[in-house]
Amino acid sequence: MMIARGCLLRSKAESIVKHVASGGSWHGLHSFSEASARGFSSEPSLQAHSTEEIGFKGHGMLAPFTAGWQSTDVHPLVIDRSEGAYVYDINGKKYIDALAGLWCTALGGSEPRLVKAATEQLNKLPFYHSFWNRTTKPSLDLANDVLSMFTAREMGKVFFANSGSEANDSQVKLVWYYNNAMGRPDKKKFIARSKSYHGSTLISASLSGLPALHQKFDLPAPFVLHTDCPHYWRFHLPDETEEEFSTRLANNLENLILKEGPETIAAFIAEPVMGAGGVILPPKTYFEKIQAVLKKYDVLLIADEVITAFGRLGTMFGCDMYNIQPDLVSIAKALSSAYMPIAAILVSPEIADVVHSQSSKLGSFAHGFTYSGHPVACAVAIEALKIYKERNITEHVNTIATRFQEGIKAFSGSPIIGEIRGLGLILGTEFADNKSPNDPFPAEWGVGSIFGAECEKRGMLIRVAGDNIMLSPPLIMTPDEVEEIVSKYGGALKATEERIEELKSAKR
Ligand SMILES: Cc1ncc(COP(=O)(O)O)c(C=O)c1O
Repeated sequence: MMIARGCLLRSKAESIVKHVASGGSWHGLHSFSEASARGFSSEPSLQAHSTEEIGFKGHGMLAPFTAGWQSTDVHPLVIDRSEGAYVYDINGKKYIDALAGLWCTALGGSEPRLVKAATEQLNKLPFYHSFWNRTTKPSLDLANDVLSMFTAREMGKVFFANSGSEANDSQVKLVWYYNNAMGRPDKKKFIARSKSYHGSTLISASLSGLPALHQKFDLPAPFVLHTDCPHYWRFHLPDETEEEFSTRLANNLENLILKEGPETIAAFIAEPVMGAGGVILPPKTYFEKIQAVLKKYDVLLIADEVITAFGRLGTMFGCDMYNIQPDLVSIAKALSSAYMPIAAILVSPEIADVVHSQSSKLGSFAHGFTYSGHPVACAVAIEALKIYKERNITEHVNTIATRFQEGIKAFSGSPIIGEIRGLGLILGTEFADNKSPNDPFPAEWGVGSIFGAECEKRGMLIRVAGDNIMLSPPLIMTPDEVEEIVSKYGGALKATEERIEELKSAKR
């Protein structure tokens, strides 16, 4: 389908941003603001390619995390191919992929060894399942590889799923199955944190602490409780240190457990660093204090490492970074560098033993998916893990992360930035007026969206969620690519500052 040149001019894009931004709160904006950014960004690419543009608005896909009007009124950004840290759209425009797809293409977009691993497995055995004690060699090998790589504590078994959401859904079933086997039928509630993201299936969306995932879906499910978001900058009390803030949050968690009854609380789920909620790092001593509370009341700890596993923070797992000793772990994304959909749960030896005896008693562990341990996905993941080890991916991340962090954090003085936070190769920026978490810009200005659109104009893709923006680039970036991100961020920031000045003047 050809589209008319200039179908979405800046003025229209601005009205779209206003329309969207005025529609809701920070969380309400969570999924919409990227697409409002799309409105802005259509303009430069249309100018660059005046005659042969291909457009797809009004397409047939019910698109995830996309508003209806976007798919009818705005051409989607259609990505056509990838090369290293770059992707190219269908019109040939090149972007540095500063989000690594969705925090996942750790090895970039053209790793030949992963393609070879998939091709060889497709030629040999494109599919066989893992039900009824039948399975394939790649799934057995990958389970062993994952167990040997996770060293924060000893784990016993690995269960394969196809997405982070499915992994977290499976976590809940597994914990219920375990507590039933242990004769604790009332210990069924889960505690997650406000602003967490654990996926979008019924249960994983319930665990997630983002209201946009709940509204009009009749969620969260009643067995899920949410406790404090550990965001020091936003939520600390006057004169409260990070350590004191952590103590207060651990006390709040303990009070919640006591209020509900410890005999009803099954597990606590946490991302080592919160991703989609805005890249929120745990404050000092947080996990130490939280783990002490969980131990006291016999509450299991699930580490959701879907973003943080395999080097993102500069350690192989987030659990290594924060000395977390979980009972269960969810991994996905970088497990296969996203070249094939695959996720996994690591299960502690204690839970694995109980599942073993209970399933023997019942006749089966009656849970699993057709594609659990898909041999092609497993073959790709085995190769990805081999590459992480051979190329010493954590060392590489640490080498480039210093400049990445310092380069972006050097913009902290900007009058429109409230906080820049991150470590390793993950970074979030929260826009705010007067450097204060209590002075957000008017929602209808769509400040995050303006910044996202300015990045896209300059050939850089990022994540926007309200007035938070996030970067999580491929781990294989070169120092030059880090410089490119820093420079494009700086250019987009300057343009956003100017736009905000205009908006402020218009308001005066
Ligand atoms: C921490 C975390 N858990 C779970 C998920 C859900 O994973 P998926 O989109 O593969 O279902 C995500 C996705 O971004 C995530 O960031």
